[in-house]
Amino acid sequence: MRVLGIESTCDETAAAVIELRGTASFKLLSSVISSQVNLHRQFGGVVPEVAARSHLEVILPIIQKALREAFQKDTRDKRQGTNKNQIPNFKFQIPRFDPWDQIDGIAISHGPGLPGALLVGVTTAKTLALVKAKPLIGVDHVKAHLYAAWLDKASARRLRFPLLGLIVSGGHTQLVLFASHERYQLLGQTVDDAVGEAFDKVAKMLGLGFPGGPALAKAAAKGNAQAYKLPLPKLEKPYDFSFSGLKTAVLRHLQKLTGKGYNFPSFKLAKFLTPRQVNDTAASFEAKAVEILVAKTMTANQEFSPQAVVVAGGVASNLALRDALRAELGAKVIFPPTKLCTDNAAMIATLGAMQLRIGATINPLKLETMPSLSM
Ligand code: KG4
Ligand code: ZN
Repeated sequence: MRVLGIESTCDETAAAVIELRGTASFKLLSSVISSQVNLHRQFGGVVPEVAARSHLEVILPIIQKALREAFQKDTRDKRQGTNKNQIPNFKFQIPRFDPWDQIDGIAISHGPGLPGALLVGVTTAKTLALVKAKPLIGVDHVKAHLYAAWLDKASARRLRFPLLGLIVSGGHTQLVLFASHERYQLLGQTVDDAVGEAFDKVAKMLGLGFPGGPALAKAAAKGNAQAYKLPLPKLEKPYDFSFSGLKTAVLRHLQKLTGKGYNFPSFKLAKFLTPRQVNDTAASFEAKAVEILVAKTMTANQEFSPQAVVVAGGVASNLALRDALRAELGAKVIFPPTKLCTDNAAMIATLGAMQLRIGATINPLKLETMPSLSM
């Protein structure tokens, strides 16, 4: 079974083709991502309207590229095979290879995400499903992040249920307990900022540019995590997260360091910081964010004794987080390949294939965007 996945929930336009062999063995045939990072950099964050327009411009070429790359070999084989048998002076048509003939379904992430950005992807997928007469599968972008783990053969062998999922991205921070692919329970989620959002905002205060997460991690690697004491959030529910207080604590700390008042613009504070202060603040913040994520994951691990713990989403590429969770959980913790932690369509196609396998398709005329979709 081969599935085309399409992704356009935020600032990445992506398409990918995966092949499902048996019940849960996947082969990634192609994965194409067009990032809008350079477009949004000048604004210091993702501008929804700009994102939607950019998706509109590139979505069809990206899909075509993913199809071409997935079946390049098949096209070559067919042409060569036909040519070999060709009789001189005998003209006949080389059968045209149409990659769409190889596709068994189209999976689209229909939420959560930016309304305009989602609309472009969903409208494209619905139209293609109708025109090419393919089953359509609506996929939850956040759940799909975990499915990137199935795309690594060594990891896939270790994935067993019950499975605990920690999803850490720019828009979400949540712990989910899976009894099976279809049966799951949301244990808790952030009550304010997502952890990736906090990384991005603190990076902005430190003048580290956009996107902030990877830049902050780089600065943190050069800093002293014990340099500044930052607070841990106090929450009533054991599996809820909060990162807004930590972000504000960093702001207050920077105001104190620079001697600037509450009214001074936060994005101008960085000019008054030494490189050492930047690195030490980055390291102290990162360590505290990691401490929060690890503590909640360990509480859930103790309570539910899962067979595997999967950490997915953009922040799952953070090395400090990976090291801390590996130290606590050993071989039980599984991370998707770094390239597949941030938004991509391979994860959408993978979850889409699992849904297609059990017949979870939707009439293309009925699929709607769901900007606030929640697991
Ligand atoms: O999953 P993703 O691509 O998009 C959403 O669905 O939100 O995650 C993007 C987030 C951004 O906030 C980015 O700063 C963060 O992931 N991120 C990181 C790292 N790489 C990406 N945060 C911390 N450390 C990293 N190495
Ligand atoms: Zn995402």
